[in-house]
Amino acid sequence: MLELRDVHVSYGNIKAVKGINLEIEKGEIVTLIGSNGAGKTTIMKTICGLIKPTKGIIQFKNENITTKNTNHIVKMGISMSPEGRQVFPRMTVLENLEMGSFIRTKEEEKEELEKVFTLFPRLKERIKQIAGTLSGGEQQMLAIGRAMMAKPQLLLLDEPSLGLAPIIVQNIFELIKEINKMGTTILLVEQNARMALMIADRGYVLETGKIALSDTAENLLNSDMVRQAYLGEATC
Ligand SMILES: Nc1ncnc2c1ncn2[C@@H]1O[C@H](COP(=O)(O)OP(=O)(O)O)[C@@H](O)[C@H]1O
Ligand SMILES: [Mg+2]
Repeated sequence: MLELRDVHVSYGNIKAVKGINLEIEKGEIVTLIGSNGAGKTTIMKTICGLIKPTKGIIQFKNENITTKNTNHIVKMGISMSPEGRQVFPRMTVLENLEMGSFIRTKEEEKEELEKVFTLFPRLKERIKQIAGTLSGGEQQMLAIGRAMMAKPQLLLLDEPSLGLAPIIVQNIFELIKEINKMGTTILLVEQNARMALMIADRGYVLETGKIALSDTAENLLNSDMVRQAYLGEATC
């Protein structure tokens, strides 16, 4: 479904992503794990067309999208829930969700809204509430719901667990699994490597802009390197 080939991304002189290869098959949950500053968000933004790579190719459903704009990419079926949620704080829950479907028809918007409310009944209860007054967990649900409103085939989730209490994190990860079961392919970026690997099919470990390791999620969970560096376990 998605393929990145030798993708490089720079911010001026700073080389944030240094030639990565990554593939996602239809139906998978793939996770990209790595420390703060490794380049995870940069990769997500590059897939969406918010940043252009300096080198390399990005293919989605056999189309080269490397130089396409974000509107085109969203229409093709990729949407993102950004790091830090970034809901529109002064707008209501419903208005935030509607912002996610601006590229879709009214009919599609209605259908997606029903799906989002099935997944997140909490949002339906709070439809008229101002988004800035929601709890962190609810705002995260809203950010994911807003991304779902674009009717994505590939959903990019950038650090959905950031700053949330463990019980809420558990809840969010259950919902991510549910979204995937309903037919959406997922690329999940996380610093919470253990949780991400528990629900993913495969994973990539990113270290300072390069893929250090890629394998099935199960093998990564058992790998000494991942256990030491990302799961906080001492191995001997
Ligand atoms: N807008 C920017 N301008 C300059 N450097 C940036 C910018 N955004 C990110 N970087 C740098 O790029 C690298 C990767 O950042 P990022 O993709 O945000 O990492 P991660 O999401 O893994 O924490 C870091 O060194 C960061 O400082
Ligand atoms: Mg990030």
